Amino acid sequence: MWNVSEYSSRSCACDGHRRRLGETVKIALRHLHSLGEDADVPDMTPFSWDERYKLAHPQIDREHEALFSLAEKVLHSLGNGGDKEKIRDVFARLINYIQVHFSHEEELMDQHLYPGMGVHMAEHRRLIAQVTEYYRQFEADQLAVTTETMQFLRNWLDHHIRQSDQLLVVHIRRRERALTHA
Ligand SMILES: [Fe+2]
Repeated sequence: MWNVSEYSSRSCACDGHRRRLGETVKIALRHLHSLGEDADVPDMTPFSWDERYKLAHPQIDREHEALFSLAEKVLHSLGNGGDKEKIRDVFARLINYIQVHFSHEEELMDQHLYPGMGVHMAEHRRLIAQVTEYYRQFEADQLAVTTETMQFLRNWLDHHIRQSDQLLVVHIRRRERALTHA
């Protein structure tokens, strides 16, 4: 049984509490759903930027943080009654920013002769194809798909940043050190 009163008196907005609040909202909506209410069950777990995603590359870190912030805005627009114009606006901005960020990463790969560039770029292409498809379905009035997008994006970002982007940054730093000492 969910219990929202545990959180209702809290004003703290730290990552831990926000994540727990997101979980509570999710459980509450599932509970409503189980009672037969006509409720979608959006995954409102916040897109919280934290130390786990820091790769010690200022530009990449800054852009990843901005990406999380935009994804969080999409999530908020979903939670605020699902106004389609608002969702469309932030969703389109998110996709646009993902493309800009990927192009920056790919410039760095090229510049630093990254041997994993082909595999990494293929991951980028797959994500762009997937989110573009989600956007197309959203435009076709399949609103629930947007919630699915958030879950997909959250998992993708977590995996991609902590593994693929981490490998890229290790390569860049190693190469920069080598060039400095050459
Ligand atoms: Fe990447």
